[in-house]
Amino acid sequence: MWILKGVLLLLVWIARVWYVEGLGVNWGTQASHKLPPETVVQMLKNNGIQKVKLFDADESTMSALAGSGIEVMVAIPNNQLAAMNEYDQAKKWVKKNVKRYNFKGGVNVKYVAVGNEPFLKSYHNSFLNITLPALQNIQNALNEAGLGDSVKATVPLNADVYESPADNNVPSAGRFRADINDLMTQIVQFLNKNGAPFTVNIYPFLSLYGNDNFPFDYAFFDGAANPVNDNGIPYTNVFDANFDTLVSALKAAGYGETAILVGEVGWPTDGDKNANTGNALRFYNGLLPRLAANKGTPLRPGFIEVYLFGLVDEDAKSIAPGSFECHWGIFRYDGQPKFPMDLSGQNQNKLLIGAQNVKYLPSKWCMFNPEAKDLSKLAANIDYACTFGDCTALEYGSSCNNLDANGNASYAFNMYFQVQSQNDMACNFQGLAKLTTQNISTPTCNFIIQISSSSSLIRSSLVTSLVITLSIILSL
Ligand SMILES: *[C@@H]1O[C@H](CO)[C@@H](O)[C@H](O)[C@H]1NC(C)=O
Ligand SMILES: *[C@@H]1O[C@H](CO)[C@@H](O)[C@H](O)[C@H]1NC(C)=O
Ligand SMILES: *[C@@H]1O[C@H](CO)[C@@H](O)[C@H](O)[C@H]1NC(C)=O
Repeated sequence: MWILKGVLLLLVWIARVWYVEGLGVNWGTQASHKLPPETVVQMLKNNGIQKVKLFDADESTMSALAGSGIEVMVAIPNNQLAAMNEYDQAKKWVKKNVKRYNFKGGVNVKYVAVGNEPFLKSYHNSFLNITLPALQNIQNALNEAGLGDSVKATVPLNADVYESPADNNVPSAGRFRADINDLMTQIVQFLNKNGAPFTVNIYPFLSLYGNDNFPFDYAFFDGAANPVNDNGIPYTNVFDANFDTLVSALKAAGYGETAILVGEVGWPTDGDKNANTGNALRFYNGLLPRLAANKGTPLRPGFIEVYLFGLVDEDAKSIAPGSFECHWGIFRYDGQPKFPMDLSGQNQNKLLIGAQNVKYLPSKWCMFNPEAKDLSKLAANIDYACTFGDCTALEYGSSCNNLDANGNASYAFNMYFQVQSQNDMACNFQGLAKLTTQNISTPTCNFIIQISSSSSLIRSSLVTSLVITLSIILSL
């Protein structure tokens, strides 16, 4: 038996050498035109990505993941936390979204994310009272269903749940935010009791965003001119400093050994002056080799479980936090890689493998009609187009910010036309727009053609869900 175990361990070890150990990605689906889930799962497999974090428990996503062996974090959105305060509801949720897939060839669920950054200051305490009871109910329901050993409930939290005092801004002084310290301590206590990890989202990009005094190089991993000195420990990047601020906060709360999982980390490529492929490349070229080498941080050397944010661009995300929100993907909206990225952490200058057999709408664009005479309604029409289409690339410092006035109008009109799946009625704008079959992209600004979902792929997902339904019936 132990020989078999040894061989297995060896195999696992060999498999791990090829990719950053435990590297996962966030698969968000807030896009107007989604890639078929089967296409995405194939893309994950082709790139050796073995872990995925979701933001819901959508059936078509789960069906596509069935049989893939990919480890999954399924999620309960914030707006369902209140319901999960009733144990019966939590039990039902676990049965429907975890237990149901728990069979050979089913879905390899490892974690349940209870809410998503529920204590963000911008939520004004809406979820403060209902997150811990939801977490308890879900883990208890998992335990009761006999899944508690393999499936852990956790709460992905924003890094603003902890901080260092302004007058001693070093990682070792990290504490949970005073207003939620008791709550955080109870959460950590519960996670520890169940052997579940603390999940935190860390964004060096956001440290930089909106803070022109932030030392630019400190957001990356290739050395900062003035490292932060914390009692002799030099911190050269904000990721390590932020992570260790959490380690210190956990220690101060009495749970210094809690496992930490980084639920989100990444760099956007458009929508802000610092959001571009050059900076994203620099960020990932620093992050991935460190992860591959299990470097860890000064206070927690070794392996860190990390999920990149995110997989593909999502044009329907809220841009309240900033125009960059639609551009976090390591792949574009159509599943094609944006820049070289080497998940083995060796910084080989190669591209990830893009989505296969993507079906696009016809090569038709909507543009400003230069013959239009009455321009008095142009601004209003652009506004309308940008309310429903994604115009974030027009922002200051973004890829399409150098267009002239007509180009601006064309960009807005085309984004609307594409988001409306090229409906003819969607390229009029009171006579200000016209169709063209000529690619009106510029060298820096891509006028996109949206994707369409292929019917054959939809059919194959139907077959998968049938198989799952059958397996459930048979396993009863
Ligand atoms: C949370 O519960 C406390 C005590 O029951 C109550 O005073 C507070 O108003 C509640 N907060 C919210 C946001 O519901
Ligand atoms: C194009 O639009 C962007 C963003 O709305 C704006 O900053 C820029 O000034 C516009 N350019 C012209 C020439 O109107
Ligand atoms: C349009 O041109 C751009 C820039 O040359 C190119 O990247 C893009 O693939 C083209 N789009 C189509 C649909 O051919």
